[in-house]
Amino acid sequence: MSFERACAITDVPSDEALGVTIGAYDVAVAGHDGEYFAVQDLCSHAAVALSEGEVEDCTVECWLHGSRFDLRTGKPTGLPATEPVATFPVEVRANADGTTDVYVDITHTLNGVTPQ
Ligand code: FES
Repeated sequence: MSFERACAITDVPSDEALGVTIGAYDVAVAGHDGEYFAVQDLCSHAAVALSEGEVEDCTVECWLHGSRFDLRTGKPTGLPATEPVATFPVEVRANADGTTDVYVDITHTLNGVTPQ
């Protein structure tokens, strides 16, 4: 495991994902009910950043054609996308100064999908 700091939890909007670059990948970090998730920031249907779409009910929407991806599994919940996006392990770490950061490990995927 090789976690790298992605952002502070206060950087993550409640209704959108936050796009960050970690190593070779663009990652969309999003929260749901106090839990944080990281998926590759690239729709599996076309080259569109998922971090530009809305987050609702633990899914992120691709703004271009409206497919939503489950943040837990990376799977699309509707067409036109049919392939899952890669999901990365996330750790939330509290700092000594009272702030909390989100860390993401891009060297592994949780759902076995190879990042593009
Ligand atoms: S580009 Fe994302 S659903 Fe078409």
